[in-house]
Amino acid sequence: LTAGPGWAEEVRRLARERDAVVLAHNYQRPEIQDVADHTGDSLALSRIAAASDASTIVFCGVHFMAETAKILAPEKTVLIPDALAGCSLADSITADELRAWKAEFTASGHPAPVVVSYVNTTAAVKAETDVCCTSSNAVEVVDSIPADREVLFLPDQFLGAHVQRITGRANLHIWAGECHVHAGINGATLTAKAQADPDADLFVHPECGCATSALYLAGAGAVPAEQVHILSTGGMLDAAKNTTKASVLVATEVGMLHQLRRANPEVDFRPVNDRAACGYMKMITPGALTRALVEGRDEVHVDPDTAARARGAVQRMIEIGR
Ligand code: 13P
Ligand code: SF4
Repeated sequence: LTAGPGWAEEVRRLARERDAVVLAHNYQRPEIQDVADHTGDSLALSRIAAASDASTIVFCGVHFMAETAKILAPEKTVLIPDALAGCSLADSITADELRAWKAEFTASGHPAPVVVSYVNTTAAVKAETDVCCTSSNAVEVVDSIPADREVLFLPDQFLGAHVQRITGRANLHIWAGECHVHAGINGATLTAKAQADPDADLFVHPECGCATSALYLAGAGAVPAEQVHILSTGGMLDAAKNTTKASVLVATEVGMLHQLRRANPEVDFRPVNDRAACGYMKMITPGALTRALVEGRDEVHVDPDTAARARGAVQRMIEIGR
């Protein structure tokens, strides 16, 4: 099944029949973004899932996002069109590894830390967490923790470094995980592209390996500091509506370009790395979405005890920040 003529209407009809709301992350295929009821970043979609009246949520994104929706709305049926759509970043720490990190930390004489987990983690990791965050509100979440408390921040090292730079906290301890897509958007490529187009704005996701290089370019005066923006995918969309530049270099997963171009068609949005595609996000094909709506699968289950232990951390996440 592909997105042929009449496909979007069929999806809308099937969704109505199931009393389903269709959510799509900004990295989804363009046709999936266009057919969804709501497209957005991780934080916006979590809030919509929590507030929705629909009895079924069809989450076009990756597995941890659908799990987060289930944690927030346990009474709803949550479907993901392909349950194998995982995330290399979420895979970079397990609940056992987190428990061992906490134990090691306190055994070395530190007081009990506050655990901050990025939303890109499994439900089992969230169950070991005090507060979750997304790239939209990571700084606000860390700022909400008393300055004298030690913080374990996981699993993304680049987002952690960004939060540390902004908050200036010396007591932030960062797990060395990464997303294979964003880590692959490197500083050398960003520098070459920025030098070839010195007037372009730079929109850089904080999960990128090149986030530090973007700030270095600004610090060295190679790119005016006001042209460098470290942003979540939702933040990029807001900035896209207001940019006065003819071109913008975008350092994130390439699916983002669809929303950016729609938001401001006058601007030439160009990827820093045009091969930065997340294979997991692209597993949600038009055919998989149709099948999900026709067959009611793949249903996402989170063990109720794990969900109950994770819920407080996820709820704090959706309450903090814009
Ligand atoms: P945001 O949508 O929160 O910016 O997240 C990016 C991401 O990599 C999700 O997998
Ligand atoms: Fe995970 Fe990276 Fe894909 Fe986002 S882009 S879902 S962080 S693997």
